[in-house]
Amino acid sequence: MPTAHHKFGLPPIDFVWGEDLLRFDQTWYDQVEETTRHERHLLTKTRKELEPAALDGRVLLAVHFKMDKCGGSDMMNVAGGIVLWDLERDPRGVMWYELGTFFVEPYWRFEQTHLAIGDTLYQTLLDLHRDKNILGTTTNVSAIKTGMRHGMQMVNFSSLPITIHRATCICPIEKTGTDNNMHCPLKDAQCRARVTTETWERLGRPARITYP
Ligand SMILES: CC(C)(COP(=O)(O)OP(=O)(O)OC[C@H]1O[C@@H](n2cnc3c(N)ncnc32)[C@H](O)[C@@H]1OP(=O)(O)O)[C@@H](O)C(=O)NCCC(=O)NCCS
Repeated sequence: MPTAHHKFGLPPIDFVWGEDLLRFDQTWYDQVEETTRHERHLLTKTRKELEPAALDGRVLLAVHFKMDKCGGSDMMNVAGGIVLWDLERDPRGVMWYELGTFFVEPYWRFEQTHLAIGDTLYQTLLDLHRDKNILGTTTNVSAIKTGMRHGMQMVNFSSLPITIHRATCICPIEKTGTDNNMHCPLKDAQCRARVTTETWERLGRPARITYP
């Protein structure tokens, strides 16, 4: 399992994953769940879903430490996170993964701090998993821009293998207005599919969409 962490910025932010993350106190599960419950672009994720991904080295968190009120041990606070979710196998049997649960807590965002926490999360996760087929889909323009700074290639949803296309389009009818997500009107408009450069090459370099 990949594992490491390093300091970043002032106040110091640690980026933790793998065994380092599993060694921490486990309050991060609740902190991440709470964030996913109130950010409208995020799907709610509980410990049940987060734990297998963490055990597999696919959860990366930006954290900082605060002294507790009694002056005792440090408490870990989550400043941001990103997860590589396992998605589905393509018709050739190759496993695909989806970038998700990408967030920086409002107080720590680039706009406030000029600390590149979101970018570091994104880049570090991609660097750890270059061998995997990875896609991202989102309606969040800031997240689209982050991906573009790190080599994500924007493609049409129809360029994805059919099983992957179906597996990633799971938004509820309240968001898409259709009960058949293959005909979702948000696709390639407000909602954008992006793949890592390595994945794009393995896909046979399908046409790229210029953005915006
Ligand atoms: C998406 C998110 C993680 C980005 O956080 P962030 O990296 O701290 O960046 P900010 O949100 O502060 O971005 C502010 C602006 O600075 C830009 N920016 C961020 N990091 C930058 C960097 N390192 N260099 C240059 N510009 C940067 C952003 O692109 C954005 O530009 P815009 O105003 O033109 O759109 C954050 O907005 C968030 O948590 N949103 C809620 C959860 C969510 O929607 N996640 C995406 C689901 S896929």
